[in-house]
Amino acid sequence: MPAHTQNLSKIAKIAPVLAVRAPAKLNLHLAVKDRRADGLHNLESIFLSLAFWDTLYFEPACEEKLLEISMEKEKKSGNLADFFALPAEKNIIFKAVSCFRDKTGFNRGLRIRVKKRIPVGGGLGGGSSDAASTLLALNRLAGGILPLCALAEMAESLGSDVPFFLHEAAAAWVSGRGEFIDPIEAPKGLFFVLVNPGFPSETARAFRLLSDFREGQATACGGNSGHGEKQLLLNALSGDPQNWPFKNDFLPAFLHLAKGSSGGGSSQNAEKAYLDIFARLKELGAVFSGLSGAGSTCFGVFTKMAEAKRACKILLETWDFVKLTFPSTFYLR
Ligand code: C5P
Repeated sequence: MPAHTQNLSKIAKIAPVLAVRAPAKLNLHLAVKDRRADGLHNLESIFLSLAFWDTLYFEPACEEKLLEISMEKEKKSGNLADFFALPAEKNIIFKAVSCFRDKTGFNRGLRIRVKKRIPVGGGLGGGSSDAASTLLALNRLAGGILPLCALAEMAESLGSDVPFFLHEAAAAWVSGRGEFIDPIEAPKGLFFVLVNPGFPSETARAFRLLSDFREGQATACGGNSGHGEKQLLLNALSGDPQNWPFKNDFLPAFLHLAKGSSGGGSSQNAEKAYLDIFARLKELGAVFSGLSGAGSTCFGVFTKMAEAKRACKILLETWDFVKLTFPSTFYLR
């Protein structure tokens, strides 16, 4: 049984309930490359799975095809109002179940309860991870009828970050639009402090901003990196985080907006929060800081647990969602 799943049948007497963890991720590095014929962009990214997760409970029901999804949120997981207001069919868990049912004809009724901890629209992959865990759980409930490659096809159709979570890797070099996953070793002995500025970031908007920014700067985005550049980045991962050459291509576009040099309207102030957060993280001892995904969660890397804890305590005076976390291998394996 994978380390992150537990069968709770002994606890729940009525029906066997499968509890599955859907971990968050960080992008330590995120380069946005050329636009493809399908309109999506090629990416090159270092993904890190975190020891911090949503939990999904799958309870089989007698009624064929029944699907009920209920969400609970943990106090600090930010404002989930938009997420809860979504019509059921727009929920990515609903989409994952529909996809699995269409492909396999596995129509057992299901009640799914989700305990959300990962902020929505925070660049931490919460929705994508929920979707991947749903595919894995359904395949397990159906007796493992599909091989990983068939699940991977479904994952890709659900969203760019879903394939990473399906592979259950501690860390990976991710390329293509997110479908090529090369598992790598997660860095050791580091502490990650996540700070969410309190607003979500919409991925499609972030790509539009980036494209406008690049046009304005006449910056070419380039195609895929050669093997040498990839190797350089991967080698750096095991070195001192102070020397990490990692970047997030969305960040300069957001900061350009924050500095008011393009008409950002009210969101201009929102993006200023990134500058504040990075400055505070540095002041508090972070040896590296960055933005995850297309925003909005920032992270700071610490080499001492005590410093990371102290930083959390201080940052919580300003921001509601601040979390100390580790690569998921830290205590799961
Ligand atoms: O994959 P996801 O649903 O998060 O993508 C949301 C939007 O972000 C896409 O519709 C597309 O506009 C943009 N996107 C992109 N290239 C990617 C991923 C997303 O252009 N690799």
